[in-house]
Amino acid sequence: MDARAKKVTVRTLRAMKEAGERITMLTAYDFPFAEIMDEAGVDVILVGDSVGYVVQGGRDSFRVTMDQMAYHTGMVARARKRALLVADMPFLSFQVSDEETIRNAGRLIAEGAEAVKLEGGTAVEGRIRRLTEIGLPVMGHVGLTPQSVNAFGGFVPQRDEERIMADARAVERGGAFSIVLEGMPEAIAQKVTAALAIPTIGIGAGRFCGGQVLVMHDVLGLCGHLRPRFVKVYDNLAESARAAFGAFVSEVRAGQFPEEKHGY
Ligand code: KIV
Repeated sequence: MDARAKKVTVRTLRAMKEAGERITMLTAYDFPFAEIMDEAGVDVILVGDSVGYVVQGGRDSFRVTMDQMAYHTGMVARARKRALLVADMPFLSFQVSDEETIRNAGRLIAEGAEAVKLEGGTAVEGRIRRLTEIGLPVMGHVGLTPQSVNAFGGFVPQRDEERIMADARAVERGGAFSIVLEGMPEAIAQKVTAALAIPTIGIGAGRFCGGQVLVMHDVLGLCGHLRPRFVKVYDNLAESARAAFGAFVSEVRAGQFPEEKHGY
């Protein structure tokens, strides 16, 4: 059996790091795209709080709620067969107390996530430890963490190597099985990747991470108005969707659809 057909678990990611294999991760928010992505062989599907930008049309992720994350996680979980499913802990779902963090993380696991991701470093080491102690796997996320964008003064790459390294080490000490490195010079991401035993997954963090993650809508050209430098657009679904919708409109107006064969 092809090893790539096997179910991906948190142990798979550790083994991939040891074998020097690169990890692939994409975001998904609904059943159809999660199913296609899983069939395409992506290792990790992330139900990201980026849903606030790419699905809800917001400028940040602060309005994304636990109810919404649970709703999207359930849809993706019903489609996914092979990939490891990670769900984001949205703003204020883990900052307040250990009790709220556990309850919220547990809710995402109950919807079908196999791990949760939360942003932050030294400040959340204890939270990560509590979750992992009770058997809830955690993926960390440091660097340009979108939930701290107001503290950073905008979506600006993070360059404080000492702080990023301290945050990444804290996430690992807390017991996370993997960590996202976002928005930082690739030299810093490379050093963090070499310093940690857990795999790093980069976004806007250069070539030398243990894996790469992108937002699905960016990959498919569905976010024309926003195109950060680190994004590679692999297809332009917006163009084909616009053409299909336009053809429907023209055919209905011209009396060409429906035809006799489409009726009962
Ligand atoms: O919310 C998200 O999609 C993310 C990824 C960009 C890492 O956190």
